[in-house]
Amino acid sequence: MKGLILCGGYGTRLQPFTFATAKQLLPVANKPVLSYVIRALQKAGVNNIGIIVGDRHDEFKQISYKENFETKITFIIQRFPLGLAHAVETARSFIKNNDFIVALGDNIFTQKLRPAVELFYRHRADALIFLAPVKEPQRYGIAYLEDGVVKHLEEKPPFPRSNLAIMGLYIFKETIFPAIAKTRPSRRGELEITDALQELIKMGGKVIPYHYEGWWLDVGRPEDLLLANHKILELQSKSCFFKIAPSAHILNSILRGPITIGDRCLITNAVVGPYTSVGEGTKIKNACIEESVLLKNVRIKGIKRPIKNSIIGTDTMLLLSKRDNEGCCKFLLGNKSRVELDR
Ligand code: G1P
Repeated sequence: MKGLILCGGYGTRLQPFTFATAKQLLPVANKPVLSYVIRALQKAGVNNIGIIVGDRHDEFKQISYKENFETKITFIIQRFPLGLAHAVETARSFIKNNDFIVALGDNIFTQKLRPAVELFYRHRADALIFLAPVKEPQRYGIAYLEDGVVKHLEEKPPFPRSNLAIMGLYIFKETIFPAIAKTRPSRRGELEITDALQELIKMGGKVIPYHYEGWWLDVGRPEDLLLANHKILELQSKSCFFKIAPSAHILNSILRGPITIGDRCLITNAVVGPYTSVGEGTKIKNACIEESVLLKNVRIKGIKRPIKNSIIGTDTMLLLSKRDNEGCCKFLLGNKSRVELDR
């Protein structure tokens, strides 16, 4: 079985961070979201993975060098972001005649995938969809089941009659390709994989559900990135409460785990953590920070109030002014930055 990870999309809801970094490469516990997806496929026995990337393909190529994956990784370029079904179609020559598991590169999940793969083969299905109940079904592809059988699928229904969302995980046979060929653009102008699956059902294909019971998250918004960071650090804390790179220096500071601190960080007179990821090259001095994600080379110095629930982008500085600012704050904020000050 081959693997296919879809990494298109503009990540507009994760701006300003996605101006500099593709959303699938944003860090959770100091590792790109995408690396968790690759590991999950690897654990399910997939050792040949295609990664569909859009016009940010250069950014993605770095990941396979940085992480030591024991998986063959092939990058496939999708020239136009025309939807998930279009992305799958783009990979047709990579897939050839294999069965394949598709995962969205911005989804994090913790449950093992192998039982689903086994179910897919046991039932000789054409497709398997991972389902999980959600609170806002209007935001997802939704499945309608009758006596455990998938009857109908609908992408982002305005009036959903079920709360069973199709997660960003699917297993397919090559029979999905003729179904994609019959799919027409949706309201948002994309070829939806949900609509392709509905076509497959109409063509007599066997689409089976897999009820996923673990934790999963579509990392689409800043609050999702913070939540994913919290959850992954919590899970990792069972084996490692303080993950500190050997090249990091901690001086006269209190670290509260779970926490991860990247290479060449310098933390002085500070209180950092819990649930905080500090990206490489970051310097923190005279500050207190918790429940936050700092990307690379951040500088925080002399901030008296605690910093909490924050994401701070690469090369960003938060400093106590040396000059007399007459009691005023000074901001140099780029597009779509957000500052929230306490009253
Ligand atoms: C996509 C799919 C949707 C699925 C969701 C899971 O939505 O179109 O069917 O439920 O991923 O995260 P999108 O992220 O494009 O809004």
